Amino acid sequence: MLKLWIVGSESQVGKAILSVLDPMELEVLCTDKEELDITQTEDVLSYGEINRPDVIINCAAITDTKLCEANPELAYRVNALGARNLSLVARKHNAKIVQISTDDVFDGRKETPYTEFDDTHPLTVYGRSKRAGENYVKEFTHKHFIIRSTWVYGEGKNFVNALLQSAETETEVSIPTDQHGSPTSAKDLARIILHLIRTNEYGTYHATCKGHCSRLEFAEEILKLTGKTLKLNPALAENIPTARPANAVLDNFILRIIDVYDMPTWQESLKEYLEA
Ligand SMILES: NC(=O)c1ccc[n+]([C@@H]2O[C@H](COP(=O)([O-])OP(=O)(O)OC[C@H]3O[C@@H](n4cnc5c(N)ncnc54)[C@H](OP(=O)(O)O)[C@@H]3O)[C@@H](O)[C@H]2O)c1
Repeated sequence: MLKLWIVGSESQVGKAILSVLDPMELEVLCTDKEELDITQTEDVLSYGEINRPDVIINCAAITDTKLCEANPELAYRVNALGARNLSLVARKHNAKIVQISTDDVFDGRKETPYTEFDDTHPLTVYGRSKRAGENYVKEFTHKHFIIRSTWVYGEGKNFVNALLQSAETETEVSIPTDQHGSPTSAKDLARIILHLIRTNEYGTYHATCKGHCSRLEFAEEILKLTGKTLKLNPALAENIPTARPANAVLDNFILRIIDVYDMPTWQESLKEYLEA
């Protein structure tokens, strides 16, 4: 039985992996910051020595982009060096490693979707620290899957839950019309991760739900599917402090050309999430 170590098991993606995996097929180890701080190199190495995982999935990260700007040392410690520490374990024990990454490694200025072959050019501390994490994983291991996704929502803090919260407490909100992405449920991201770890198709992947929309269209679909009312004021991203890269649309180019997995559309995925 494969021994799977979910690092950052309290994250949206970690919880989603736990909810979709078959416990009869995998032996699962879970840690989050409380049990094991991934920035503590010796602790991480010793956990690996004791537990000898076959597959490590790194969901742990500082994902709060404002916190990353305010505290770059923390961002690099967790997003870059934490990934390095887990890579050291993977290399030592010949384990596969999944590093989850983000569209923020790109600058968002391209007019068409980004493929895995586009050059990265992050504009933020979050994006730069995540790219550094990718690079460490590439440098220290060869059995790796670097999986970039975007606009992820699951059990935790995200756009869907924030909008539904606003619908309870506010009458109107401003939402960007000039920001585009592919909303991806954490469960669908979890499913592709669990599929890939069974293969030897190592490398970097873009894995998002099919199709794309503006932030405003995403918000409209959330309200439509839940029947909630909230006035959505179209706005430009530059006027909203929390705005993210303009083009966050990733093309699942490699998944398509090797034909290993088909993601659902973002609308199907959102419907499943909201119904659950
Ligand atoms: N959310 C998105 O839209 C999105 C999009 C693309 C890619 N991703 C990537 O997907 C992955 C998972 O994202 P997510 O949104 O599911 O994450 P999340 O919900 O923000 O959770 C991150 C987890 O990492 C933990 N953590 C932080 N520092 C740690 C440390 N030093 N040691 C161990 N654990 C630590 C956090 O614990 P505390 O809460 O206690 O700090 C938290 O449980 C990340 O790599 C992220 O970059 C996310």
